[in-house]
Amino acid sequence: MADFAPFPGSEVVALMATEQSTDPRLTLEISERDLPVMSVVAGQALELLADDRTTNREIEQLIGRDVALAQRILAVANSPFYCGLRASQTISGAVMRLGIRQLRRVILTAATGELFDTGDPVMQRIWSHSLATAMAAARLAEAIAPDLAETAYVAGLLHDVGKIVIYQQHPAVYGHLLAEADAAQRPLHDLEQERLAYFTHASVGGLAIRRWQLDPALTEAARAHHLLETEIPSWLQHHALVSLVGLANRLVAAAGLGGPGPSEAQLIDSPIAQTLHLTPERLSGLARRVDQVLEENRAHLR
Ligand SMILES: [Fe+2]
Ligand SMILES: [Fe+2]
Repeated sequence: MADFAPFPGSEVVALMATEQSTDPRLTLEISERDLPVMSVVAGQALELLADDRTTNREIEQLIGRDVALAQRILAVANSPFYCGLRASQTISGAVMRLGIRQLRRVILTAATGELFDTGDPVMQRIWSHSLATAMAAARLAEAIAPDLAETAYVAGLLHDVGKIVIYQQHPAVYGHLLAEADAAQRPLHDLEQERLAYFTHASVGGLAIRRWQLDPALTEAARAHHLLETEIPSWLQHHALVSLVGLANRLVAAAGLGGPGPSEAQLIDSPIAQTLHLTPERLSGLARRVDQVLEENRAHLR
């Protein structure tokens, strides 16, 4: 299966159909040229934020060049997850209040939100689930592995980005598959493996993130977030991060923002639980934390 193999040198080609295939599953092609493009300004802002010498003024000026992105950044910065009681009216106020680490999250959230914002209700649902998974993954990391909170948020945000890539390139076929998973109450990942040759949303997501040249840990989190429900792939390096994202994904879905997945009993027996040392009691405590963060941010998750 595509998810289990390492990415070969020319991975997009490897995901494409071969003339001689006898695989009865549906053959779709993912075009490298048509992968969604992140805002250039967002990419530059993230680079600036990685440099200790960068001043707040430089970041503000750069963000100001992309008005739509700036508006999104303000909206995200003023959401309950970031703002507490102190909203900011301007980018400079937000930059000052948030600080470098939070600003990184906010810029990535705003830029990713742009990719999903097509007015299509299917995309809106995937976005709500992704944003919820980001918040949940950060909240779980704060309790289990605080050093990973930052990366866990971004990994949660991007874990299902493969769904938007496939949906954008094959809306009719993939829209049908999504609806079928819903109607049959089946995990989408299982249905993809059954019906699609060559890839799942997880492998395509990993591919897109790699193209954006983000942290390789984020690529792994997208590729393996469902695999860890049952096994540990040999190529995995970021066990804790991927487990956090897998758990966040599951708990968010169990709270009603996503499709069906493994039961609590299956989860307790999974590599996710083993990696994170979860007991049934610990798991229910973490589920309560996730419910809490989703409740606090309910207005932004519709
Ligand atoms: Fe997924
Ligand atoms: Fe997901």
